[in-house]
Amino acid sequence: MAKVTVVGAGKYGSMTALKIAEYDLADQVVMTDIVEGLPQGLALDINQSRYVEGFSTKLFGTNNYEDTADSDIVVITAGLPRKPGMSRMDLLEVNAGIVTDVTENILKHSKNPIIVVVTNPLDQMTTLTAKVSKLSKNRVIGQAGVLDSSRFAYFISEKLDVNISKVEALTLGSHGETMVPVPSLCKVDGKPLVDLLSSEEINDLVQRTSDGGAEIVSLLKTGSAYFAPASSAATMVKAMLSDSDEIFPVCAWVDGEYGINDVYLGVPAKLGADGVSEIVQYNLTDVEKDALLDASKAVKQKVAELDSI
Ligand code: LAC
Repeated sequence: MAKVTVVGAGKYGSMTALKIAEYDLADQVVMTDIVEGLPQGLALDINQSRYVEGFSTKLFGTNNYEDTADSDIVVITAGLPRKPGMSRMDLLEVNAGIVTDVTENILKHSKNPIIVVVTNPLDQMTTLTAKVSKLSKNRVIGQAGVLDSSRFAYFISEKLDVNISKVEALTLGSHGETMVPVPSLCKVDGKPLVDLLSSEEINDLVQRTSDGGAEIVSLLKTGSAYFAPASSAATMVKAMLSDSDEIFPVCAWVDGEYGINDVYLGVPAKLGADGVSEIVQYNLTDVEKDALLDASKAVKQKVAELDSI
């Protein structure tokens, strides 16, 4: 049975740990945080829900990286969240330091884990984790597209007043301003979205999706979204723990696919026991392909900025 570590016992981290534990696919979920008592207290609380919920996976809260030894999968949630008015990119410098430190500590105790990054700015933090860890690129993956697609699906279902289960939604690109919605592959009850809404209406939903995190940050005042983000990260872990090879939009290393090279970008990918087993190439429209290329350029530019810090 597998061991999963979640770094960061904030709301995103603890909710992700809880969801992974409830899937009952791992032997143990370790939650680590620098705040003394926080991961221990939350782990104790979650363990006390196991009897009611009927799952066996044990939570273990700790302040020591030694306890993360031999993890199969590590989810990095550590980092500062946004404050109202901030963009994800405003966190670049401070979170780069945190993510570098976490990655180095993880690799001291786990030789070849799969790392799922959720810290913002997502595409750059995923790139950084791959660089610092020196793991093979298929083992370092960022979470963004699952969340953005889920937000997009929700807005589509509300707009058309249909059950969310009828909606298929997809976003690629970056987790930010250059998010790339893929209306040509979005459907409602099997019908193309483009036949149900005008391009203006679709653009409004896309904009709200792209601003999805900021809308919640401004309502909460402190902290950022964590229910849908945790569902998204935990779902990716579930696919890898069960070696499902299911396709998800994730931030993965792109090496020639879609005519794009050498960049971590939101693309459809199969997730299995070794992380990304394949980048899946869908038939995108020319507009969507161009938007994906633009997103890759924007991410590369910010990665270059990060390299110069
Ligand atoms: C959001 C953060 C988690 O989009 O990136 O809510």
